[in-house]
Amino acid sequence: MNVLVTGGAGYIGSHAVQRLLRDGHTVFVLDNLVRGHRKALRAIGLGTNDRLRFIEGEVTKPTAITRAFRQLPFDCVMHFAALAYVGESVDQPLRYYDANTTGLLRILQACEKFNVRRLVFSSSCSTYGDPPEGRIPVDEDCPQHPVSPYGRTKLAGEWLIRDFAESRRRAGKPFAYAFLRYFNVCGCDTTGLLGEDHEPETHLVPILLEVALGKRERVDIHGTDYPTPDGTCVRDYVHVEDLIDAHVLAMEKMRDGEGGAYNVGIGKGYSVRQIIESARRVTKHAIPSHEGPRRAGDAAMLYNNPEKIRRELGWSPKHTDLDEIIATAWRWFSANPNGYES
Ligand code: UFG
Repeated sequence: MNVLVTGGAGYIGSHAVQRLLRDGHTVFVLDNLVRGHRKALRAIGLGTNDRLRFIEGEVTKPTAITRAFRQLPFDCVMHFAALAYVGESVDQPLRYYDANTTGLLRILQACEKFNVRRLVFSSSCSTYGDPPEGRIPVDEDCPQHPVSPYGRTKLAGEWLIRDFAESRRRAGKPFAYAFLRYFNVCGCDTTGLLGEDHEPETHLVPILLEVALGKRERVDIHGTDYPTPDGTCVRDYVHVEDLIDAHVLAMEKMRDGEGGAYNVGIGKGYSVRQIIESARRVTKHAIPSHEGPRRAGDAAMLYNNPEKIRRELGWSPKHTDLDEIIATAWRWFSANPNGYES
């Protein structure tokens, strides 16, 4: 297939590009390089593999999008380009709505204009907010009441896509889509080529590894008074390669004009303290921690019921051991202590 990957130079997008190339697809990347890295694309074949092409540009700008859509007749768009920090979204909601909602709107306009009929959209489990009692583990029918602007931009995106697909159905030009509601993505590719390099970094796992590398003094635990077993937030940590497996399965199994939402998480919840302990075991570093206040926009507990994605897409995670997942990230971080600039 010819696949347009927006945000393909970012952490998750670059892992998707690597996998798509490996599967024999032709990949065109559109990325503004604000949080992505040209070096990530070079590591997986930019400049040497003629099935990989790239233009630098904003998904919010029609000119950049039109340039990208003119390159090839695309069979599918994987839309990763977005801002993805819950805490940052509370302080900068307009920036988040612009990047995430306007960006998606522009992509859909181009899908209409260029008659592209498939989309895999990066949604988020943060669209569920704090699930009501009895709804954890979370399944896809759980009510969606996001508690952060970030989560709301992703929920707005889902509605935008549904409405667009309905209009295309009525026009006799069926549009197929999958919403993948990611849980907490972590780990790095097992061949060691691709990593996670964000500036600023606010995600728990990379922060712990930066402490182990001596780049930070300690990790701050954001809240210890949550209604969870040890008082810290519980999340479902899914390996990035398993997440990409879900994208490929969704793209391959999509049927004309049909749409579906799938949660992507392994189905186990770990607290912040458990993640810190795991990082200590893996890195053999003390990783000092400090107990601080809650961070705005955080839900207390979120982990997945993976039943639907197993049943309908045949997905199951290959990485289920927490220490092993964190070890894949540690391997890249310790080999590249200054990220892609190493
Ligand atoms: N945390 C800390 N200290 C830190 C960083 C994080 O205690 O220095 C805590 C957070 O408060 C949260 C947990 O660790 O309870 C995980 O936080 P992350 O920032 O790593 O991830 P989030 O859960 O906020 O968000 C991530 C992605 C979102 C996705 C969401 C789904 O950034 O895109 O997972 O839960 F929607």
